[in-house]
Amino acid sequence: MNQKRIILDTDPGIDDSLAILLALASPEISLEGLSVVHGNSSTEQGTLNALSVLELAKANHIPVYQGCDLPLVQPSLLAPETHGEQGIGYAKLSAPQTKPKAQKGSDFLIEKIMSAPKEITLVCIGPLTNVALALRQEPRIVENVKEVFIMGGAIRHEGNTTPLAEFNTYVDPHATHIVYHSEMPITLTPLDVTYQCIFLKDDLNRLLKINSPITKFIADATRFYMEFHDEYQKIDGCVINDPMTLALTFMPEICDYRELFVDVDISTGVGLGNTFADFYNYNKKAANMKVALGVRPRVFMELFLERMEKLARAASFS
Ligand code: RIB
Ligand code: CA
Repeated sequence: MNQKRIILDTDPGIDDSLAILLALASPEISLEGLSVVHGNSSTEQGTLNALSVLELAKANHIPVYQGCDLPLVQPSLLAPETHGEQGIGYAKLSAPQTKPKAQKGSDFLIEKIMSAPKEITLVCIGPLTNVALALRQEPRIVENVKEVFIMGGAIRHEGNTTPLAEFNTYVDPHATHIVYHSEMPITLTPLDVTYQCIFLKDDLNRLLKINSPITKFIADATRFYMEFHDEYQKIDGCVINDPMTLALTFMPEICDYRELFVDVDISTGVGLGNTFADFYNYNKKAANMKVALGVRPRVFMELFLERMEKLARAASFS
């Protein structure tokens, strides 16, 4: 099988951790490095979480790079109420034995993409600060990256951080603006589709049939995430945005797409971070991305559960 070479820019985070596990459980993917960005947690905590999750899955050969700890312009905004003080809910992982590499996250993104022209798929599942910095430092990544998948935005869907804005976008709207206007080959996975992919208690109970440190981690992490979704959004289960985004890199048929011109509001009013698509092409601008607007939720969830079961059996206690 011709594996897809992927680098992941991430703010681990509960659903980020699930995306890392899905990448490791998917033979279609060669996960070649993680750059960590502020967002769900600080970059320092997120880096520890990334290293610990990789060690949990016995994948500590995959390098981790610490990235930017502040948005380009906005003040820092983290999400302990959503992901817990340590960023992985109620889960407790031992302190990692491995260390992050010395290279900065944005420098890693540049070096990896430029070293293998048209071969690297960049998957962005956190605020886009590292990616925006990389674009400003080395604009040639635009024509050298193979493709870019971004979890973010809310097109026809309400925001999950303000009434109008999705978290990754709202945390760093200026970085989002740089990336959306970069002309990189982007596929966007907004809340419009991720909010249809709810990880249910029944899904978790299916995984818990396997006695494994992997299923224990998923249970402890998602139990916190489900409590957040119930309390703040009256959702029975939790929205696993990031693994769904990652799945599209090798199973695009999970979603239906529209080629659209999408922009982000960087004015300082109530619309800051709002993402919107020019469906009727009023501005006569060429589309700048593919946007996932339709989804087959249970096709994705079945894939996710099957892959987690496989990973858990490989690392079962018994
Ligand atoms: O809005 C959801 C996104 O913000 C997800 O990537 C979640 O992990 C947070 O980063
Ligand atoms: Ca994330």
